[in-house]
Amino acid sequence: MKKFRLAILASGSGSNAEAIMKWAESSELATVVCLASNVSTAPVIKRAGKYQVPVIVHLKKNKLETRELFDQRLIEKLKHYKPDWIILAGYMRLLSREFLEHFNHQVINIHPSLLPAFPGTDGYGEAFSAGVEESGCTVHYVDEGMDTGSIIAQRSIPMIKNESLEEFKKRGLVIENSFYPEVIENLLKGKI
Ligand code: GRF
Repeated sequence: MKKFRLAILASGSGSNAEAIMKWAESSELATVVCLASNVSTAPVIKRAGKYQVPVIVHLKKNKLETRELFDQRLIEKLKHYKPDWIILAGYMRLLSREFLEHFNHQVINIHPSLLPAFPGTDGYGEAFSAGVEESGCTVHYVDEGMDTGSIIAQRSIPMIKNESLEEFKKRGLVIENSFYPEVIENLLKGKI
């Protein structure tokens, strides 16, 4: 059976990217064909090396470069790897309509909150400050907005009394790392 070809986009530490690369290593369903990062020093780049996943470092040409041009250049680099799905894992940029259309909207992301609550860059922090009883994470399709695409799956993370924000974030990330590959697998199997 032909494997689905996944391209990961990431900007930071890459624990989710690594969880996906690890899962794909023994998966009959998918292979990670490349990982692109917009941050040349991102730790995720080293993690890709561990799995022999080719890395694309894709940087802004200058401050004035538009999102459209940046994404157009990224499409050119990604298309050599013929990805079926684009998997965002801590990718800290919005994507242009052209990018999403080019990849037939088969672009997904994981976000650290139960969307639509707490979109943006600090999902766990905001949920923690708001004192909610339950937080969670969401895998969703990516659209042009900030964490506004349609929801694929969510996992609840109940708050624990007296837990610090740091502990909560750590616990959340560990849950994300098992949840994201699980959702990708179900998505590729057509179960969700
Ligand atoms: C995760 O919390 C993810 O939900 C969010 O960014 C963080 C990335 O962490 N989009 P990592 O780089 O995968 O460790």
